[in-house]
Amino acid sequence: MKSTPMLQVAMDYTSLSKALVMASLVAPEVDIIEIGTPLCKAAGVEAIRAMREICPDKLILADYKTPDVGGLEATMAFDAGADMLTVIGGAAMATVEEAYAVTRKRGKQMLMELTGVRDILARATEWRQIGIDRIVYHREWDAQSAGREWGEDDKATIRQLIDMGYKVTITGGLTMELIPFFADLPAAVLICGRGIREAADPRAAAREMRLAIADIWSDSYSSFPMTRTISTSADIAAKAVRWGVSEMGLSLTVDGTECLGCNSPQRFCHGSRTDIRIPAGVDRQQFFKHLIANISPGESQAVGMDAPGTFYLDVGVLSQINEDSVLGLLSATSFALQKVGQPTNTRAAMTVAHNLLSE
Ligand code: 5RP
Repeated sequence: MKSTPMLQVAMDYTSLSKALVMASLVAPEVDIIEIGTPLCKAAGVEAIRAMREICPDKLILADYKTPDVGGLEATMAFDAGADMLTVIGGAAMATVEEAYAVTRKRGKQMLMELTGVRDILARATEWRQIGIDRIVYHREWDAQSAGREWGEDDKATIRQLIDMGYKVTITGGLTMELIPFFADLPAAVLICGRGIREAADPRAAAREMRLAIADIWSDSYSSFPMTRTISTSADIAAKAVRWGVSEMGLSLTVDGTECLGCNSPQRFCHGSRTDIRIPAGVDRQQFFKHLIANISPGESQAVGMDAPGTFYLDVGVLSQINEDSVLGLLSATSFALQKVGQPTNTRAAMTVAHNLLSE
């Protein structure tokens, strides 16, 4: 199976409060929160500090696109709580080296940003020589506005960068429609800013993108409809959860007995709660930590662990029982399983739940 690119959401705001509201909304669905360049300029290190506080479990990238004074800017970003920093590709080698020295010393990550760089492969060769292995391949906003489209030549360059040993982040007006264009590239990270922030439902958009990425990079893409927000009964929602987690390869249990299936006349899984076995070999605490980190704010009561070797999902305590919240529980479960190295078929799980809830 190809490795799945991470999803990074870009907070290109000039208002810190707007960025924080949006970040807390979409954080459960993404891997990396980017403090966009405009926000870095508008709110400075305070933006990083505040984001770190509200997203303690997410990777935070400061998109400084540092042009000079590399060591100091890297120190400022990391002191404030960033995990990753970008340096502009046009910076002098001395700046790159200064920033990279601080990055290594602090055990963090640094990415070279290719915005405006024309001799990409020549510069990338120099950066590789000092050990840099992360790069951002960018269709810039202004270039996009002036009509620049993504093309095969971009992919050829990205492929060359990967062959040189770079973990490549791809960005620049990415949308659900564009993601499949990059399917044949082992990208490390895909960034989406406007495509998520400006969606009618940013959290649902982030989830759709995350699922599409997981699906495309595991070779089983099929189109999946957007989620709906109409209410559903707790009984149907619980059934959707049961069918969904079963599709993930998990088994259901009540008092140590295997479930006979929702359509069995002897079914015993009544009620809103589903108890699920944690697969053998999976670290229960780690799994649960990731599960909680990906549950939407306010819905953490819907998950828990009490009986040994199991966890539960309880749709009955969701603030709103609808398709969005049910798929949110399934998506968080799947994400947590992946984080502890347990392969799952997320798309199959979401599809079966979606179909049941649409009946
Ligand atoms: C602009 C950026 C943006 O953060 C990046 O392009 C992602 O945003 P979008 O998906 O809206 O293009 O770095 O310089």
